[in-house]
Amino acid sequence: MKDETAPQKIPITKPFFGAEEAAAIVAPLHSGWVVQGPFVKQFEEKFSTFTESRFSIATSSCTAALHLAVATLGLKPGDEVIVPAFTWISTANVVEYMGAKPVFCDIDLPTFNIDVGQIEGLITPRTVGIIPVHLFGLCAEMQPIQKVAQKHNLWVVEDAACAFGARYHGKYAGTFGEMGCFSFHPRKSITTGEGGMITTRRADFDQLARSLRDHGASRSDLLRHTGKAGFLLSEYNHLGYNYRMTDIQGALGCAQMDRAAWILETLAQRAQHYNQLLIEVDWLGTPRVPDGFVHGYQAYVCLFRPEEPTLNNVDRLHQQRNELMIQLEAKGIATRQGTHAPVIQGYYTEKYALRSEQFPNAYLADRLGLTLPLYAQMTEVEQALVYQSLQQVMG
Ligand SMILES: Cc1ncc(COP(=O)(O)O)c(C=O)c1O
Repeated sequence: MKDETAPQKIPITKPFFGAEEAAAIVAPLHSGWVVQGPFVKQFEEKFSTFTESRFSIATSSCTAALHLAVATLGLKPGDEVIVPAFTWISTANVVEYMGAKPVFCDIDLPTFNIDVGQIEGLITPRTVGIIPVHLFGLCAEMQPIQKVAQKHNLWVVEDAACAFGARYHGKYAGTFGEMGCFSFHPRKSITTGEGGMITTRRADFDQLARSLRDHGASRSDLLRHTGKAGFLLSEYNHLGYNYRMTDIQGALGCAQMDRAAWILETLAQRAQHYNQLLIEVDWLGTPRVPDGFVHGYQAYVCLFRPEEPTLNNVDRLHQQRNELMIQLEAKGIATRQGTHAPVIQGYYTEKYALRSEQFPNAYLADRLGLTLPLYAQMTEVEQALVYQSLQQVMG
């Protein structure tokens, strides 16, 4: 029997799928073309149109996209790449995959993004690039980043995993650096299950990334099978990978693109509503959006700060935040930490002898980040319940 008093379950997020998505994923099953093919091509075209990027290359994940991007740029052992100290671990991992060294830069706590004032001090003769992350849908401060990159002749790859639809001074995320990399994991605004996308304005990077995504092939299967001499295999002149997206995912991506503007607009409205509800809740730092930025609101990530956080009180506040999350969970409301600080994960602490005190803001963000539920179909009633529950628990 249904328990009428049981708390309503509010998940951290929920993809928006309708009849269009259900119909889309069946189409490749009917045609029989289920690997990277016509729907992936269509998805890439829709993505380029939406984000105003010249070329888009679909991949099996954003991690794969980032890996292909640094491989395309020729990252090699001994090179150094500057990455933020607070980001999903794969931003740094792809640098390690190439035998290069990620050099971590602390973040600006209110925006959770790389502290642009610290980048130049980390540049050495070995530095070849910067991977700024547009965390949770807010662009990193690209103008100063591009300026320092130009001055020191460095490339820029934007980790735009969370930043579909985000803008900075009128331009879309993914159009600033040599390449931009997006994720379509179900925690993102639009999803293909797993999936990723590279954007670039450079035709040579586009060609090479496409080839590397498909074992280093000189032409895609779509070209081979729809052009002449399809009976001959491609040539393989590069060491490539299998990072192809399936056409089932491509078809799903097309359907998601058709409702992308609505999803982004609705997420922004829901976020605005949280901002209003939480305006007087001074123990929670809500997402900051500086002038000239359009937040994509992949997630609504706050900072738990019942008092000014420092390295001295952070462990105590961390316990309080976790207690809050436990109690919200008991009320049926899911929360999550924002993301993590790779600089306190075993692989990096051991390999590079890193200490959390070197990255105080990344450490505070890791310990005190608090993501509230957000999804396009979320109702004001659900948001009110989240707000009331936060207030009840915090007393
Ligand atoms: C900042 C950032 N970079 C990279 C990734 C990796 O994306 P994917 O799961 O598609 O490989 C994520 C995923 O959450 C992310 O948040």
